[in-house]
Amino acid sequence: MKPRILQLNPILIPAINDKLASLYTVHKHFETPDPETWLREHGAGIDAVITGGHTGISRAMLEQLPKLKVVAVNGVGTDAVDLAYCRERGLPVTATLGALTEDVADLAIGLLIAACRNLCAGDRFVRNGQWELHPQPSAIPLARRFSGMRVGIVGMGRVGRAVATRAAAFGCAISYTDLRPMDDIAHAFVPQLVDLARGADALVLCAAADTAEGIVNAAVLDALGPRGFLVNVARGRLVNEADLTDALAAGGIAGAGLDVFVDEPRVPPKLRQSDNVTLQAHRASATWETRTAMGEMVLAGIAQALAGERPTMSLTT
Ligand code: DGY
Repeated sequence: MKPRILQLNPILIPAINDKLASLYTVHKHFETPDPETWLREHGAGIDAVITGGHTGISRAMLEQLPKLKVVAVNGVGTDAVDLAYCRERGLPVTATLGALTEDVADLAIGLLIAACRNLCAGDRFVRNGQWELHPQPSAIPLARRFSGMRVGIVGMGRVGRAVATRAAAFGCAISYTDLRPMDDIAHAFVPQLVDLARGADALVLCAAADTAEGIVNAAVLDALGPRGFLVNVARGRLVNEADLTDALAAGGIAGAGLDVFVDEPRVPPKLRQSDNVTLQAHRASATWETRTAMGEMVLAGIAQALAGERPTMSLTT
C-alpha cells in the first residue's frame, strides 16, 4: 500500500502533483466538504503532511495524526506550525529553505519601486482614460527616486541579504536590524527598529514572524516619516495594520508595497482604497521556477522521512 499524504494546500505545478500521485495516496484536504469528519475517520492512517508556510498546521490537527512521520512545509515561514511540539514528538518539519529567496527579494524591490514611482496609480491613470482628459504633466504628482535611497532591512536572513544585494546595485545605502549583528555583513547594524526607521527612506520587512508580532507600529511609522516607504514581503502580522492605515491616510508615511496581510485573504478596505499602496496577493514565491524547486524539496523531504532518514531540510530533528 502507498504511504498516505494529507495535503492542506494546493500545489500549482502539474509535474509535482503527478510525482506525488505516482508515489503516494494523496488526500487533498482543501477539497474535502467535511474536513473534520474526514480527519476523525482517516487521520490515524496519515504518514505525511504537506502544508503552506502561511497555512501551517494546528497542534489539534497534529494530535489527530499519530502515525505522522513528517510535516513538509511548501514554503519558508514556519510560524504557523508548533515547532516546539513537533520537536518534543521527534517529528521532522521541513521547509523549502533557499528555494524562494531570489523571487521574494525581486518582488520586494519591485514593490518598493512601484511604491516610490506610483506605478500602479500611473497605470490606473492611463487605463481609465484619465490621461486624455488631463494631458497636462501636472495631473500626476512627481514621484520619488528609488536609486540611492537609504534602505533599512528588517531581518537579515536569506531574503534580507538578497534584498540588500539588489538595493546596493541601485546605489542604496543599506542598514539593517535583526536579533543580533551578523559578522559577515558589512552594512550598518541598528539594534532598535525605531532607529532603523528614523535613518531610512524605506523599510523592507524580511523577518520571520514567530516572535515579532506588531513590531511595525505607530512609533516606527512615525520615525519612518512622511517621505518614507514600507515594504512587507514577510508576514502581515509583523505590522500593526490599523497603525499603518492611519499613517497612510494621514500622510504619516509616503506609501507602502504589501504582499502580505494580517488576515489573508481579507485586506482592510482602507488599504484597498488607498492610492499610495501597491498590493499583491501573497505572491512573492509564485513563479514557475521557484514553485517547481519548492515542490521538489517537498518531495525530497517526504521521501527521506518515509525512508527513516532525517530530512536534510528538517528544522526540528
Ligand atoms: C512562505 O514561504 O512562508 C511564504 O510566505 C508562503 O507562505
